[in-house]
Amino acid sequence: MSYQNPDVARVAEELMAKLDSLPDKKLILRDPLLRGLFDQLKTLPPQERALFGKEVNELRLKLNSLAGDGIVIEEQLPIDITAPWDVNTPVDKMPDFFPTEQGSIHPLMQEIESICNIYQRMGFMVEESREIDDDFHMFESLNFPAGHPARDDYDTFMTDEGLIAPAHTSTMQNRVLKKYKDSLEQGEPIAVVIPGRVFRNEDLDVTHEHTFYQLEGVYVGEGVNVGNLIATLGAFMNEYFSQQLKTKLQPFYFPFTEPSFEFAIERPTALKKGNTEADQWLELLGCGMIHPKVLKMADIDPEIYTGFAWGGGIERLVMMKHGIEDIRHFESGKLEFLRQF
Ligand code: DAH
Repeated sequence: MSYQNPDVARVAEELMAKLDSLPDKKLILRDPLLRGLFDQLKTLPPQERALFGKEVNELRLKLNSLAGDGIVIEEQLPIDITAPWDVNTPVDKMPDFFPTEQGSIHPLMQEIESICNIYQRMGFMVEESREIDDDFHMFESLNFPAGHPARDDYDTFMTDEGLIAPAHTSTMQNRVLKKYKDSLEQGEPIAVVIPGRVFRNEDLDVTHEHTFYQLEGVYVGEGVNVGNLIATLGAFMNEYFSQQLKTKLQPFYFPFTEPSFEFAIERPTALKKGNTEADQWLELLGCGMIHPKVLKMADIDPEIYTGFAWGGGIERLVMMKHGIEDIRHFESGKLEFLRQF
């Protein structure tokens, strides 16, 4: 038998010569030279693998028959999971290439990108949140001292060592305030948005997930007031929904803002429902003037600087935009769902 591949041909010749001198001929099947050919197979480019594999297998079958019937070898090559096709496929039946399917960007990531893009055009920087945090950033730095009852509203997952899966992106406030404090003191306001993944101990239903996304925003400078907060969020909403919308603030409570509000917009035309008062407004996020203690916690003097912050869920916006009825689709990994975007 002649082998086309020179390496297989050389090993075949050497092993044939060795065979006679072996006390137990079956040992030839364990020869490192033969094993070397199988190792080599894995390193070959896919186009060369099938032919090479076929010849190595032929050599092995031949040696097996010469060594007697002591060891049973399957007729087929072992399955090579790294090969792009079955290495046992006859050469003339091999496909030219394997069809691949183009993936798509997850709808949440698309939305985060477009939201950040609008804020960037408004002069905001984008920082990333984190998925594991500590008590200081989750609570202390946001004016929830130990035992504060409002901690219960942010029931999330934590380890015995005190690591916390953040229940909101506000955990990043102290970090960005500290990071940009120097430029603030040189006269440049802090303007940052922070998208991030957050976690809560929730009873799951169509509008509640244990894992979801939020976008946090922080703006600090001299003489910043509630009017700036309303104008900034209003400008964002008009751009995002491509129409001029009425907005309103409703009083609320958060330990890290004073005063605190819920920010609502008039329902955009495309999302109009019934005619009752409740149908006219969408409550979109929490916001307020940053509490002086939160500024102090980052060594920023609240006598000189004031600022506002806001935070809200991203899934909600995407669900409204695309008419998605169940929040659980996002993390389900279902391709039928994802392929629509
Ligand atoms: N972190 C709050 C939540 O998840 C939302 C929020 C409220 C963020 C007020 C803020 C804020 O930055 O100022 O419920």
